[in-house]
Amino acid sequence: MTVAELAEHLRASSRIAAFTGAGVSTESGIPDFRSPGGVWTRYDPRDFTFDRYISSAEVRHNSWKMREEFMAAMPQPNRAHRVLADLEAEGRLLGVITQNIDGLHQDAGSRNVIEIHGNVREVQCIGLFPKHGIPDGCGFTAHHDWAMERIAGGDADPDCPSCGGYVKTATVSFGQAMPEGPMEQASLLAEECDLLLAIGSSLEVFPAAGIPLDAKAAGARVVIINRDPTDLDAFVDLVINGEAGTVLTEAVRAANTTSTD
Ligand code: APR
Repeated sequence: MTVAELAEHLRASSRIAAFTGAGVSTESGIPDFRSPGGVWTRYDPRDFTFDRYISSAEVRHNSWKMREEFMAAMPQPNRAHRVLADLEAEGRLLGVITQNIDGLHQDAGSRNVIEIHGNVREVQCIGLFPKHGIPDGCGFTAHHDWAMERIAGGDADPDCPSCGGYVKTATVSFGQAMPEGPMEQASLLAEECDLLLAIGSSLEVFPAAGIPLDAKAAGARVVIINRDPTDLDAFVDLVINGEAGTVLTEAVRAANTTSTD
C-alpha cells in the first residue's frame, strides 16, 4: 500500500525535492555510517573532527588513506540515483539536497545537486591556523588526484603549495562550519518544493536533518524512504521502510501508469 501512496504523492506533485543520505549509495557498494557494519561502527567519529584533523598528522594521514580506498573502489550510481536524475530531466524534480560526498548523483545525471557536506573529489587549502571549525585557506583547490599523487610519491601529509597551510578534502567534518552557500540553497529548495523525499538517511545529524522539517513547515508533504525507522517518522506524511532503489523504481512506475480501470 505505501508504494501506491507514494505514487499518488508523485502524481500530485510538480515541484519535488530529494534529500538524500548514505543509504542511497549502499547499493553502489559504499557503506553507510550507522547501520551494522557502517563506517562509525568501525571507526571512532571523534577521530574525524575538524580540530583533530588540524592537530594530528596521523589523523590527516589516516583520512587520506580512507579516501584512497574509497576512490579506488570507483563506485557507480545505482537505481536510486538514476530515478532521481530521470525525474529531474522530466522537469518533475527541482533538485537533490545531499549529505553524501561521493558525487554519484552528478554521475547519474542529476544537475541541481546541493552538497551540504561537500564532495570528496576536490581538495582545498584550509590555512595554517583555522579557528572555530572555519576553513581559512588561501584559495588553493585541486582535484583529489593532486593529493593522491603526492601521497603515492611518499608525502604522507601534503600541504598547500601556495601558502604551506593544511590541505583537506572539500568535505565537512564534525565540528566544522556548514557551507553557507549550499545551506542557503537547500533552505530555499525546501521552501519551494511541494513534496520532499527524504531517502536513505537516519536523520540524526543536524542541521542537515532539519531540512525535511523545514520543508514540512513550509507546507510541503514529506515522505521518508529508509531501510530503518528514524526519529522523524512521526512528523512526516508517509514512511516507507525499504530499499531506496526498489521503492523509488516501483513508485515512479506506478505513478506513470495512469489507472485504466
Ligand atoms: N535503502 C534505503 N535505506 C537504506 C539503504 C538502502 N539501500 N541502506 C541504508 N539505508 C538506511 C539505513 O537504515 C540508515 O538509517 O540509510 C540510513 C543511513 O543513515 P546513516 O548511516 O546515519 O547516514 P546519513 O544519514 O547519511 O548520515 C548523515 O552523518 O556521519 C555523518 O557526514 C556524515 O553525511 C553523514 C551524516
